[in-house]
Amino acid sequence: MKVLVTGGYGFLGAWIARDLIDRGHEPVLFDLASTPRRLEMVLSAQEITSLPFAQGDVADSDRVLAACKEHGIGGIIHLAGLQVPTCRAKPLEGARVNVLGTLAVLEAARQLPEPRPRVVLASSAAVFGPPSMYPSGPLADQVPLRPGTHYGWFKICNEGNARVYSQEHKLETVALRPWTVYGPGRDVGMTSEPTRAVKCLALGRPYKITYGGIQDLQFVGDIARAFVQCLTGPYKGPEAYNLRGAVVDIQEFHRALCAVEPTAKELISVGESQLQIAPNLDDSLLQAHYGPLPPTPLEQGLRKTLTMFRDQLAAGTLDVADLG
Ligand SMILES: NC(=O)c1ccc[n+]([C@@H]2O[C@H](COP(=O)([O-])OP(=O)(O)OC[C@H]3O[C@@H](n4cnc5c(N)ncnc54)[C@H](O)[C@@H]3O)[C@@H](O)[C@H]2O)c1
Repeated sequence: MKVLVTGGYGFLGAWIARDLIDRGHEPVLFDLASTPRRLEMVLSAQEITSLPFAQGDVADSDRVLAACKEHGIGGIIHLAGLQVPTCRAKPLEGARVNVLGTLAVLEAARQLPEPRPRVVLASSAAVFGPPSMYPSGPLADQVPLRPGTHYGWFKICNEGNARVYSQEHKLETVALRPWTVYGPGRDVGMTSEPTRAVKCLALGRPYKITYGGIQDLQFVGDIARAFVQCLTGPYKGPEAYNLRGAVVDIQEFHRALCAVEPTAKELISVGESQLQIAPNLDDSLLQAHYGPLPPTPLEQGLRKTLTMFRDQLAAGTLDVADLG
């Protein structure tokens, strides 16, 4: 199947392109950016040059529709969006890209001839409110949602709009809610710090993660697989699903890092404040509908991330721009 991946030059986009190719699908990448620097981490030079690319703004529905028609798209994975810090600093731009951009994708899909493409969109665990709002968990997909960020409310709006397109226009839609996704290529966003810590370990540099508490660390390869299975598996309705990886407190994360690379004991330090998003989520509905999707154990995911960063360092391709 030909799959339009919006935000295809981003972190998740690159790994989803990898997964799609591995399963015999043909990704068509759509992005505002024109540099495939994250793709270079997971695809060969030949794969990158042979991948169709459509440059455009995801909020431009005509452009998205034209790309779908031009490439004969059979499925859409919608990832393009701005992260928490940008939505906080520029809420109007955040709403334009995240909310209108998602509507533009849904509208483009609606206008295509039958069989219209299923749309799997990136929501976020940031739709949940702070941990103090809930019992200790694991929390089901449908508990009350009261996020403390514009970003979280934009994602709720997108989940709702996807349901409406499904109900009113019979479009197949699925939303997925990642928590902290980590792995090579994660270099922007509020929860990119664990990946930066691993990059600093590869470089032998000190790094402090500014927050602490409990988080759900999800290896990027697992999340890529979940998106592709939700696109290709038998459809179960317009749900918004929690994802679940390794739910750990920051000390456990630090211990796992030390087990992978003992110098983490001196080089990596952590903060204390809990991120204000409920961290203990139940993914059993997703597992029942599209599973099994077994999570990579934390130590294994961290080891793989460190090895890839070290390989990039040895090859002279490690991008350190996100380290300041
Ligand atoms: N990475 C995570 O831990 C995480 C967690 C929860 C949710 N998400 C969601 O998953 C999606 C992908 O996340 P990511 O980590 O790959 O982000 P990313 O920032 O690495 O990638 C986003 C991509 O979207 C593109 N983009 C931005 N504005 C655009 C526009 N107007 N038109 C077209 N393209 C545009 C960017 O150029 C970039 O390539 C996002 O929607 C994000 O909110 C990610």
